[in-house]
Amino acid sequence: MPKITTFSGYFHEYQKSIVQPQKFWERIAETFHWKKRWTNVLDWNFEEPSVKWFVDGKLNITENIFERFLYTKGDQPAIIWEPNNPKEAYRVLTYRDLYEEVNRFSNALKSIAVVKGDRVVIYMPMVPEAAVAMLACARIGAIHSVVFAGFSSTSLADRIKDCKAKVVLTSDGNFRGAKTIPVKDVVDEALEKCPSVKSTVVLKRTNTEINMRVGRDMWWHDVIENESTECNAETMDSEDMLFILYTSGSTGKPKGVVHTTGGYMVYTKYSFENVFQYQQGDVYWCTADIGWITGHSYIIYGPLLAGATTLMFEGVPTFPHPGRFWEIVDKHQVNQFYTAPTAIRALQTHGIEPIAPFKLDSLKVLGTVGEPINEEAWHWYHDHIGKNRCPIVDTWWQTETGGILVSPIAGITPTKPSYATMPLPGIQPVILDNEGNELFGNSVEGNLCIKFPWPSMLRTTYGDHERCRQTYFSSFPGYYFTGDVVRRDEDGYYRILGRVDDVINVSGHRMGTAEVENAIDEHPLVIESAVVGYPHDIKGQGIFAFVIADMSQRSEESLIQEIRETVNRIIGPIAKPDKILVVPGLPKTRSGKIMRRILRKIASGDASNLGDTSTLLNPEVVEDIKKAAGV
Ligand code: WT7
Repeated sequence: MPKITTFSGYFHEYQKSIVQPQKFWERIAETFHWKKRWTNVLDWNFEEPSVKWFVDGKLNITENIFERFLYTKGDQPAIIWEPNNPKEAYRVLTYRDLYEEVNRFSNALKSIAVVKGDRVVIYMPMVPEAAVAMLACARIGAIHSVVFAGFSSTSLADRIKDCKAKVVLTSDGNFRGAKTIPVKDVVDEALEKCPSVKSTVVLKRTNTEINMRVGRDMWWHDVIENESTECNAETMDSEDMLFILYTSGSTGKPKGVVHTTGGYMVYTKYSFENVFQYQQGDVYWCTADIGWITGHSYIIYGPLLAGATTLMFEGVPTFPHPGRFWEIVDKHQVNQFYTAPTAIRALQTHGIEPIAPFKLDSLKVLGTVGEPINEEAWHWYHDHIGKNRCPIVDTWWQTETGGILVSPIAGITPTKPSYATMPLPGIQPVILDNEGNELFGNSVEGNLCIKFPWPSMLRTTYGDHERCRQTYFSSFPGYYFTGDVVRRDEDGYYRILGRVDDVINVSGHRMGTAEVENAIDEHPLVIESAVVGYPHDIKGQGIFAFVIADMSQRSEESLIQEIRETVNRIIGPIAKPDKILVVPGLPKTRSGKIMRRILRKIASGDASNLGDTSTLLNPEVVEDIKKAAGV
């Protein structure tokens, strides 16, 4: 695999990838195992949009992990699994172990009538079986849709219904820090509304007492019991769907982002090896959850396609103590460590004492993802975790991009705190002003778009192609629009400034403000609400809800509590507003649109310069809100 080893090598590769993209990607695709070669490297237009990579190529992504590595790496650890509680034994699955487990579970899925093209929802904790589940789906051509196990039954049901899943894979419970979460109950509740689901497979993890519905629910250990450890990989077209992953947007309903097989495989492996400079034998650890794209691309697919050892951690950064991450780094001699700025900031608040007992001398590369990293957190990470000797890769990408698009190459690209720096080979970012004019040169700021396809980009939004076109390809015709604002500085380095749409980034998780508003509005006493993001020391952005409510029946305090609980029930804990302010009205334009700009200012505690409010339908309400907010 062509690996970049010098900064001039990067420019050389980048240049080739821009001048002859097809040739560039073809050369990389040739290093994989295909059952049948493609007839054409790329067919595309961004109008429909229609993007096809390695057209007519046939393959199975799991053959590029297992059949490929079995003879050379059969005994090498593929997954090191570290449990929530350090007192429980960790597990190591070699490439051969994982291969056999995947085959057994593939056969089990077949035995419950899962066939190529069926959708399988995975709602599981961070255990090796979750990886086995994903890979087994890929092996038999079923389309997985992992749902983060922190989502509520309503959110889970919405996703199951949208993709009409036939099977749900789950567990009897999840360990998360000091808590045990009864996830099977959540699934049971969700399934009351999901007639498409014929069966569930339940992994025993916590030994929680649960209901097993006869004829629908089966234990994981039972379904695999008599299955063979051999299973032929289904032949997939390069453009067959590999998975659907739901993500929030500016409208209320999450979208099912669709990724396909061939291009995703090529790009995740290529980007993994280059960005992290993974060397054979290294231990790589990404702390994300498999419920997010980071978990898909850089815990499972990218690392395993590269024959790496990937660490999976079930727990949380602060249990049983705030040195847990660093304990794991030493215990398993982790070489590359990839986490989110929010985790760094949260650990930063515990000071440096929790780090002191650990050497951290195995670390070579540090990474961040999910949100802009502030300079202070960057320096803390660099100084106290990397001991001033590990490069930090600040990786910018999205659920829709499938893989990292803008990032330093570890140890090769000179870094600058809070800059994602430069595009990877094959990526052609452009900055457009609001009229769609490209801003050339350096020291410019505007809408971040990509003007040429890359192999792991989304192909559609499940069941609604028009929505994909509308959301990503219509604001700036001919371009993929990311929804982010970016600055290209005087050195040509990219710095992501944030979202332009009504999406907020809470602890590296994307939340649509409309989604949270819809949940708040479910409370019977709420009349109307408006949600905005505001700067939050640890989460990056916090959720601020302005609410108009019938105040005749509750104290303000209990109403606020109930609203938080409503959001928790409808979406999940990650969407609970940090602040809720009961207000007499919301600032609206004459056409009835809420002026969020004003609310954002007030939410950030700065009401000094609210701009022109005279065009509002109800300018007097601004003073009332300011008073309520105490700004
Ligand atoms: C949005 C995508 C990609 C996996 C995790 C999030 C923001 C992501 C960075 C970064 C600044 C970043 C963007 C992007 N974002 N990485 N390194 N610096 N912002 O995936 O949930 O699809 O969210 O996260 O705003 O659009 P996601």
